[in-house]
Amino acid sequence: MTQRVAVVTGAQGGLGESMCKAMQDQGHKVIGSYLPGTEEAAKSWQKKMKGDGFEVEIFPLDVTDYDHCCSFIATVEKEAGPIDILVNNAGITRDGPLKRLQPEQWSAVIQTNLDSMYNMTQPLFASMCDRGFGRIVNISSLNGEKGQFGQANYSAAKAGIYGFTKAIAQEGARKGVTVNAVSPGYIDSPMVRQVPENVLNSIIDGIPVGRLGQPEEIARAVAFLTAEDAGFITGTNLSVNGGQYMS
Ligand code: CAA
Repeated sequence: MTQRVAVVTGAQGGLGESMCKAMQDQGHKVIGSYLPGTEEAAKSWQKKMKGDGFEVEIFPLDVTDYDHCCSFIATVEKEAGPIDILVNNAGITRDGPLKRLQPEQWSAVIQTNLDSMYNMTQPLFASMCDRGFGRIVNISSLNGEKGQFGQANYSAAKAGIYGFTKAIAQEGARKGVTVNAVSPGYIDSPMVRQVPENVLNSIIDGIPVGRLGQPEEIARAVAFLTAEDAGFITGTNLSVNGGQYMS
């Protein structure tokens, strides 16, 4: 196994944590990010991970800020070496039906879920291409594929990720840099647990597999797409949603 440096943004969320574990299981050096101002919680998460046998280096990162992403990347590369694997996972929801959706809810979700793709990937992309190897996985969503009542902002951002992914997959293709999306369905995670119980129950009723997904089931898709021998898979989307939406 070749050890590479893998960055997972939003590492401490339900999905991010599983992705960090999967990256270590693949033999990589794993770097996570935490929101500036949440250092204490991040350190105790890091300690808990260590207790479970997972070493994750963590640095503060605001994915909505291009300059901050550049300095995060510079720090990581100085401490750990060139970043070969990037999982753009950080994301938020600010749900509400369009008639009540406020400009702040729109902007926060677009900035965190879509602007972040550019902010984190642009500063890394040229050096990945120069080194002839890169694996980029952008975490989209079932709700970017099908749309979701109450998520005009989130669905728009997550759908935008597909265009970004396919465009830069073409730019990286001859340079050994693959770029793919993973679209989780409803996963047993803190984000999904915010959905009102009655709404969530009716969503689960519509999942053919009959249950929420587990974070490890998304991490498995990320591990697959970041593998050394995944070099012919680029510009695609891997839906992991228990059959809820079949495109
Ligand atoms: N389709 C059609 N109509 C719907 C509907 C749906 N899916 N859901 C609700 N409605 C209707 C209701 O029946 C109600 O109709 P009436 O006014 O005629 O009675 C009306 O819309 C208002 O609905 P609510 O009472 O639910 O409105 P609310 O303001 O209390 O809540 C909401 C709105 C916050 C969007 C809430 O419906 C909600 O949380 N929905 C779930 C959103 C969701 O799935 N978020 C996913 C979060 S997890 C995630 O995003 C991860 C991922 O990638 C999958």
